Amino acid sequence: MGREVLPGLHWFYEPGPDRLEMVTDGRSAPDWYEPGSAVRIPQCSYLFDGERSLLFDTLSPASREQILADLDDALDGGSLDYLVVSHPDVPHAGNASAILDEYDDITLVAPRYGNAHDLYHLDEAMHIGEGDEIDLGRFTVAFHEATFLDAPISLWMTERTHEMLLPVDWMGFPHHDADRLTCVDELDYDLTLDQLVEFHGRVLFWHQYVNVEKVQREIRQVVETYDPELVLPTHGLVIRERTTEYLELMTDVVAEIERRDRVGALGG
Ligand SMILES: [Fe+2]
Repeated sequence: MGREVLPGLHWFYEPGPDRLEMVTDGRSAPDWYEPGSAVRIPQCSYLFDGERSLLFDTLSPASREQILADLDDALDGGSLDYLVVSHPDVPHAGNASAILDEYDDITLVAPRYGNAHDLYHLDEAMHIGEGDEIDLGRFTVAFHEATFLDAPISLWMTERTHEMLLPVDWMGFPHHDADRLTCVDELDYDLTLDQLVEFHGRVLFWHQYVNVEKVQREIRQVVETYDPELVLPTHGLVIRERTTEYLELMTDVVAEIERRDRVGALGG
């Protein structure tokens, strides 16, 4: 299942299991939640299709046939030139070999950060990081050391012509089943602190052990450095309006996770 967010920018979406326990977990349902709805924390991947094409992340193996079909549709018989894996976790890199098998002359691109790349079959990949760019014609993508991450081999990506930030696991959030492939500005509710807390407290669980002020400083630094128009998260919905406001909301998220002590783990 995919959506073309901008000409040449395709958003692929895998819903994952129902995360209902996240909103019914021994407390009253949060304001954003509509009773009866399934709750999704998706896997997302993004295709940048210019004169050359680049796929950022691969979804999980549960969506293997789907992503191959979606890619084929979006590329309309064209080739895929680059496959970027943000980090080696299964929901991000699980279809890398299937996609590499499907296209001739495709280049696998992996973070140069961390080590033991051979463990994940990334030793033969093109290794990139801060300062590296790929010109795709319609889009130019640049790579960055991830500010907030959950694996040593990780990277973030930006896109220069439309000022996009792809912060991978950071800025994820649960949402209703009906909100699949819906941009945040199209929802009939505002993205809430609670949604961001639920995700970051459980999935990026290191948030429970941080120096809050230090992380808040880093968040402000991210906003200042990247100042994006669009945020494309891999476990949330595309943000294309009020972007700075939502990024700055993350400073409250860190404080709230500390206040709540322990948000919980991710079941399912
Ligand atoms: Fe992830």
